Amino acid sequence: MTIYAAKDYLDLSRKAANIISAQITLKRNSVLGLATGSTPVETYRQLIEKYRQGDLDFSEIRTINLDEYKGLSGEHNQSYRYFMNDVLFSHINIDLKNTNIPDGLEEDSEKECSRYNQVIRSMGGIDLQLLGIGGNGHIGFNEPSSFFEKETHLVALAEHTRKSNARFFTSVDEVPTHAYTMGIKNIMDAGKVLLLASGEAKAITLYDSFFGFVTPEIPASILQLHPNCIVIADEPALAVIREKTGWEGAVYDN
Ligand code: F6R
Repeated sequence: MTIYAAKDYLDLSRKAANIISAQITLKRNSVLGLATGSTPVETYRQLIEKYRQGDLDFSEIRTINLDEYKGLSGEHNQSYRYFMNDVLFSHINIDLKNTNIPDGLEEDSEKECSRYNQVIRSMGGIDLQLLGIGGNGHIGFNEPSSFFEKETHLVALAEHTRKSNARFFTSVDEVPTHAYTMGIKNIMDAGKVLLLASGEAKAITLYDSFFGFVTPEIPASILQLHPNCIVIADEPALAVIREKTGWEGAVYDN
């Protein structure tokens, strides 16, 4: 993996948007794996800006999101479908038919998971997968566990995740208990992975993920084995890596 140091959140977002823009420019019908959460919001804003300036065309782009809360409809303002429409899709010339997010209202989890795996396969796989990282090391909603889940599955959200996402709801009790998420194999099959980490709350898990053992207890650690993984982290998120490894540069290649 290669770690790029960003001086702050804006710098991180500009770097990420530049990499995604290059992907779109080089392959106009790219399949982009997308993430929600706070971290990619400014990256999406930068992409919208590039689109408005006439530098990007999303008309042939296809997207597949990592996850969705089970039990929330796409109209619910905390659903990930709502989020993606709100922060990105409604501002660019993407065809909504080419955007994919698990159906939170599908009760039959086996049916929904196999439908979603089929969607990924029918797209020919993911060219670039954008990821955030949970404070507990989760990617998508692959929570710490004793094994790596391969493909899309229904997951019981960890207490850590529900508490951390409670900031978007009126109380923690309103945060859904379950979600559909792509599995680790879906993510590892992507041609490129771009993981973003911002803020000191991510510093310990970022160090553990990329400098510790590969273990399902820290799901992001599997990315050490991905042949084309880029991490962009701002200085607060890099604090523990800097302290423990003594690395002072702007680019770390491993
Ligand atoms: C979002 C997702 C999660 C988030 C992670 C970090 O689709 O799959 O893994 O990327 O929880 O969230 P933020 O960016 O809010 O810190």
